[in-house]
Amino acid sequence: MAVSEASQLGPDYILRPLQLSDYRAGVLEVLKDLTVVGDISEKRFTEQFEFLRARQGEYFVIVIEKAATGNVVGVGTLLVERKFIHECGLVGHIEDIAVAKSEQGKRLGIKIIGALDFIGKRIGCYKNILDCSPHNEQFYVK
Ligand code: ACO
Repeated sequence: MAVSEASQLGPDYILRPLQLSDYRAGVLEVLKDLTVVGDISEKRFTEQFEFLRARQGEYFVIVIEKAATGNVVGVGTLLVERKFIHECGLVGHIEDIAVAKSEQGKRLGIKIIGALDFIGKRIGCYKNILDCSPHNEQFYVK
């Protein structure tokens, strides 16, 4: 992550890659504002985390941590698709963006999208795309 991207957050929030301890820092609670998460044990979370980590350059899961509490208050993923077209080009898919209800409206969602878009461009994606419900369309337009 570029310092310039992260520094726009100010001192109250930290933008960083997902880490194992985020299970206890509430990342799954944040995702529950997006959709059904289900009952995921720490063991299962760890297995999934290790699977994603092993696929270097394919999955980038980032979180925003609230400095005062250490809790995760935002999350988002960039999934990188390898194509044959465009000379075996890369396309980034921005997925599963969520901000904790108590922190919505503070421009954290915009920061997550900006950071994922920045990562996609830096690793050479010729475009980054996302799908969303009509309900959120105006947010993504912005
Ligand atoms: N509809 C229209 N405008 C919106 C919406 C919305 N649902 N949400 C935010 N905005 C606007 C804000 O008013 C703001 O406008 P401004 O620039 O004129 O002030 C701008 O978008 C930026 O808003 P943020 O403060 O950065 O948004 P926030 O941090 O609250 O995050 C998010 C927005 C991620 C949609 C959050 O409300 C959320 O987590 N919702 C529940 C989960 C969800 O639906 N996630 C998106 C799924 S789609 C996907 O993941 C690709």
